[in-house]
Amino acid sequence: MVVGDFPIDLDTVVIGSGPGGYVAAVHAAELGQKVTVVEENAKLGGVCLRVGCIPSKALIQVSHDYQTALNSGSEGISSAKVDLDWSKVQGYRASVVQRMTNGVSYLFKKNKIDVLHGKAFLKDKNSLRVMHEDGAQTYTFKNLIIATGSHPIEIPGFKFNGRVIDSTGLLELKDQPKELVIIGGGYIGCELASAYANFGTHVTILEGTDAIMRNYEKDVVKIAQGNLEKRGVTIVTNAMAKSATDNGDNVTVTYTLDGKEQTLTVDDVCVAVGRKPNTKEIGLEQVGIQTDDRGLIKVDAQGRTNIDHIYAIGDIVAGAALAHKASYEGKVAAEAIAGQKSVVDYRAMPAVCYVDPEIATTGLTVAQAKDQGLDVKSAKFPFSANGRAVSMHSPDGFVRLVYTKDQEQVVGAQIVGADASDLISELTLAIESGATVEDIALTIHPHPSLSEAIMDDADVALGMPTNI
Ligand code: NAI
Repeated sequence: MVVGDFPIDLDTVVIGSGPGGYVAAVHAAELGQKVTVVEENAKLGGVCLRVGCIPSKALIQVSHDYQTALNSGSEGISSAKVDLDWSKVQGYRASVVQRMTNGVSYLFKKNKIDVLHGKAFLKDKNSLRVMHEDGAQTYTFKNLIIATGSHPIEIPGFKFNGRVIDSTGLLELKDQPKELVIIGGGYIGCELASAYANFGTHVTILEGTDAIMRNYEKDVVKIAQGNLEKRGVTIVTNAMAKSATDNGDNVTVTYTLDGKEQTLTVDDVCVAVGRKPNTKEIGLEQVGIQTDDRGLIKVDAQGRTNIDHIYAIGDIVAGAALAHKASYEGKVAAEAIAGQKSVVDYRAMPAVCYVDPEIATTGLTVAQAKDQGLDVKSAKFPFSANGRAVSMHSPDGFVRLVYTKDQEQVVGAQIVGADASDLISELTLAIESGATVEDIALTIHPHPSLSEAIMDDADVALGMPTNI
């Protein structure tokens, strides 16, 4: 929509419709604001819904289903005719994405949120320019929430093109690779290595440091790493990726290990070495919005930048680049604009890595708690002693509670095991509500369920374990 040189007056504007932006927009509308979202992509939902969390979880799910179908012989289910149709796998991924992005459109309509498709650029403290397909238009705003997200980092020698791909490319491959190299053994590298290994691809992870999944504790990683290796994933640590040569039919990856140059020729190479905030080319400097040395926008506890009525949330501010963190910050910013006193509190921030078995954490590890001066203890309960986990072929892993010595208040938890991504919410709520291990032990958990392992772990913490 372009009406010439006359600015169009808007109230609350949100740039970006990812899990930060769309949640902020909906919540702001629920709080009575007239909201407009500016989104440059034709589809709503941002990286998470279009080319991140949601499609990757769709692929991970199919890869599990495939493995289950292949390996159900011991349950009396014949696996003689299991077949993988890659184009249908991709079709399923696309259908899940479509459904979720349509969902955002529906939420916007329901909340009377207008969408402007185009790229936004800040002009001054009260207005921005949107480059629409048919020209540019200036809009004024009363309040602005910037939620522009992040993009994959490109490294020298690995220009994204053809068989050198980023995570988006890896999610959308037209042909299933027989051989795949993933550079970076972090979240994306390990999750997608796990999925592709389940599909039967031979995956090599080239990790620059001495360990994969370095965000997690060693005993947690050990279980997930052992399972990756069991499924044929080759993990090379201290591998410095140098370059990739696209040969048309395949790609040759050169890296150094212990000072020696090595090469691997594979079908595709994916670079997953982290993400960069989308804070360039949106005109922050026009307005004087302050950023730190990593390009992250500086904000206060309500998400407010150094300009009073301009907020920033999600991957463009400090902290983990997680969808649920962005959504949480979006709600706080919307409430701040509505005049509420809400502030962020990251004490119970969950994080999940969707490998096999899943890793999920919340709050503090023992080491982090000690760093903060807390006197803590921990208790561990293995899933091998949980009937539901054993019946699900998932005896690997454990629940660990971290709690204060004096009051036995839960301050952190780590779970590695089946459905850890769902189980962690109980412990996030425990931290959020100040629960003690006794509160958890006294809470009746359904039998048989994976969640019983949490109650059993609380019994371990109290020194009165029943099931171990
Ligand atoms: P990451 O930060 O998780 O991992 C990057 C890995 O690449 C690290 O292990 C790092 O040591 C390694 N690395 C860096 N430069 C390298 C080089 N030149 N050669 C070899 N290795 C190198 O980044 P990733 O996996 O790209 O994910 C980006 C972000 O997206 C994550 O930090 C996370 O916040 C988010 N994410 C979250 C997910 C979830 O919540 N389940 C899933 C996927 C991504």
